[in-house]
Amino acid sequence: MRAYRGHLVHITGAPSLEQAGDHLVSAPDGVLVVDDDGVIAYSGEYVGMPWHIAPEEVVDHRPGFLLPGFVDTHIHYPQTFCTDSFGGGQLLDWLQRCIFPAEATLADAAVAQRTARAFCRRRIEVGTTTALVFGSAFPDAQDALFTESLAAGLRTISGRGIQTVGPQAAAPLLTSERAAIELSVQEINRWHGADAADPAEALVQVAVMPRFALSVTDHTLIALGELYDSVRGQGVYFHSHLSENFHEIAAVRAAFGVRDYLDTYDGRLGDSAAPTLLGPRSVLAHGVHCTGRELARMADTGTSIAHCPTSQQFLGSGTMPWRRTTASGVTVALGSDVGAGDEWLMARVLNDCFKVHISAPDGAGLSIPPAQLLFTATLAGARALDLADRVGNLDEGKEADFIVIDPQRQSLLPEQLDRAEDAGAMLFTLLLGLREPSIVEVFVRGRRLTAAEAA
Ligand code: GUN
Ligand code: ZN
Repeated sequence: MRAYRGHLVHITGAPSLEQAGDHLVSAPDGVLVVDDDGVIAYSGEYVGMPWHIAPEEVVDHRPGFLLPGFVDTHIHYPQTFCTDSFGGGQLLDWLQRCIFPAEATLADAAVAQRTARAFCRRRIEVGTTTALVFGSAFPDAQDALFTESLAAGLRTISGRGIQTVGPQAAAPLLTSERAAIELSVQEINRWHGADAADPAEALVQVAVMPRFALSVTDHTLIALGELYDSVRGQGVYFHSHLSENFHEIAAVRAAFGVRDYLDTYDGRLGDSAAPTLLGPRSVLAHGVHCTGRELARMADTGTSIAHCPTSQQFLGSGTMPWRRTTASGVTVALGSDVGAGDEWLMARVLNDCFKVHISAPDGAGLSIPPAQLLFTATLAGARALDLADRVGNLDEGKEADFIVIDPQRQSLLPEQLDRAEDAGAMLFTLLLGLREPSIVEVFVRGRRLTAAEAA
């Protein structure tokens, strides 16, 4: 057993968003004891550590902080180098001009390998221990991602990006419907739970991932629903985009004749009743412009939203209405949406989250309390990914996914933290002020991660 002393900060238990403040743990002389299986054996005040816990080694990080690893519920691996893309317009222009051509370059195995390594390295640098990763169209590139992720020790859920229709720029990314289904099945067989006998105990898992409704046909969505029905019992995930941009939503309505965008993922296509793709392991990115019906249906099915405020600003998509969406009962987790999001560090995404919601018009503005911010970037993400029994906070019995923060690496921050009058003020300072240099160590399941050099 190893012990890590430091200022322990996390959201304990299994609270709702509103209850997060009451569940905030802030223990300035705290300790995290991790057993040889990477499970947390003790978490709390150092003085309260039970006598029978006798760690072989105690690493003292004080006055540094110990926080849960960040959970990014929406990030695009083939867009690792795309955070600087000038699309000359919003979502659909940006996809055609910048993103489809960039993603096509991963057909080259060397490019894919370099991208996978850079992607994993970047995640370690910013302390994103768990991520739901939008994948490449190319199976070899997905093999590179899963291989690198396992070598790095990261927790990754990913799936090949499925596209069967699209504009000319998307041509290299398209396959037939039959190939799309076959490739997803192959990916599930190869990678879902690949590192464990029981997929529930694995670090890598697979999701079925049509890029968005506009990248497939109604026929393909029905076929994907049937596929998903046959694999959801194995814990396979479903992930896509939903209601991000007004032009996108109008195009979905026109193409599918649906009432709501969500209907395309819910088996409600034309006259046929197909299996739904929604459920407790389904995560939809954005949900900026959802109807009340859509929110109610997501809440009913346990489908979660990956909220991506940095990306929504970058593409001028609008702002997901925080109060309305969280009040609907849908789990709202956080996503960087790299590369439309130009920030990898979840604390920076939280910083944008705070700013956009305090600025909401028509009396909807609110100042999200610090504990709710931390909850959104950690425990809510674990809940959205149905992993809250394993990760998301630093409770005993959870797997030890945590980061060590040394605020001395930043000027001003230590003094700002010293001046904070209570735990909430301290947490606000830490989350909004955190920059990458202060993230000094990153652990998944008790193992310290080190980034591999670029290939
Ligand atoms: N909708 C379909 N594809 C994408 C993508 O790559 N990024 C974002 N932000 N939205 C999408
Ligand atoms: Zn996205």
